[in-house]
Amino acid sequence: MIRILLLIVFVTLLLLGCDNSTGHEPKDKPLYSKADFPIGVAVDSERLRKDAGYRDIVVHHFNSITPENGMKMDAVHPREGRFFWEEADYLVEFCAQYNKRLHGHVLVWHSQVPVWMEDYQGTDAEWESMLKGHVQTIVRRYSGEVSSWDVVNEAFADDGELRDTIWRHHIGGDYVAKCFRWAGDTDPEARLFYNDYSLPYNQSKLDAVLGMVDDFQHREPPVPIDGIGLQMHVTDSFPPMDSIREAMDKIRGRGLEVRFSELDISLNFLGIYTDLTEDMEQRQRERVFDLVDLYRGLPEDLRAGITVWGVSDADSWIRHHYHRMDWPLLFDEDYRPKPAFYGFMEALEY
Ligand code: G3I
Repeated sequence: MIRILLLIVFVTLLLLGCDNSTGHEPKDKPLYSKADFPIGVAVDSERLRKDAGYRDIVVHHFNSITPENGMKMDAVHPREGRFFWEEADYLVEFCAQYNKRLHGHVLVWHSQVPVWMEDYQGTDAEWESMLKGHVQTIVRRYSGEVSSWDVVNEAFADDGELRDTIWRHHIGGDYVAKCFRWAGDTDPEARLFYNDYSLPYNQSKLDAVLGMVDDFQHREPPVPIDGIGLQMHVTDSFPPMDSIREAMDKIRGRGLEVRFSELDISLNFLGIYTDLTEDMEQRQRERVFDLVDLYRGLPEDLRAGITVWGVSDADSWIRHHYHRMDWPLLFDEDYRPKPAFYGFMEALEY
């Protein structure tokens, strides 16, 4: 009897010793549980593997995953003819294990292009064949597993002209349409998105994107496109809600789905604050509420989802990119939900 008791005590102590909890396991109900559209987050696969607190949040609160960098051109295709699948494969398995959707970001962009592509020596026909191979190889590998793609990202400049990129330079202005056709031919089931920033407040760029959509839809056969990703890198007051609504109306008028694809709400755009105050937190909470509420006004079949661009404030690209303190996301550095998290939840329940 004493031996059995000792064994129980030993096993209990062992289990306690093995507790790798972070102390901040999510206690609120899952954010996505109240939504009838995907609630996503941009992730880093290294963090998912190694950081239990980070993983807990992703698994518990989100039902859609976007690789923040792991499927970009330089990550997946670092050498000519050599693809690096490890990180993307890990995310595919993660999504299968936890029953999440995977939104692929991004097949073609002018940034995070591998050096070999930048330096590629070939005729224009060879450039086209190189880009086509890139798009089709990735879409084919993840066909049936990646449910939607950002096919082309940020193809337009601020003046509304097609951005002067290596793709335009070597393949011509029609490269965007070609990318959508290559992706659609390879996986006709995947939803295909064009993704860009500043559309709600840059009329020239919005007109250019809508012009592209009109052109795609009027071609014979039409160029496949399912929706527009509005990168929601916003502040607590800019751009105004009305201008976001107007941009959404124009997109839905074309029958296209809308994603709020990269949501973060900067509270320190000018870089003048060193600390986060309650007042700032409240403004962020109200802003998230308004954005989610606005999004819910879309017809159900056009709601492709909202994706938050990172897990905790400490992970946000804004801090390292702009070298300033900021608190743009739903969770703080210790993975505690911020008022913004509750603003998001309230808008879903409202
Ligand atoms: O890969 C290197 C790594 O080897 C090195 O150790 C590390 C040291 O800092 O840098 C790593 O590269 C960084 C990469 O993120 C991966 O972490 C780059 O320096 C950094 O510039 C890069 O930033 C990403 C940025 O895109 C690049 O333009 C951000 O994480 C990512 O959030 C951001 O996301 C973009 C969307 O894709 C498109 N829309 C705009 C959005 C914000 O810029």
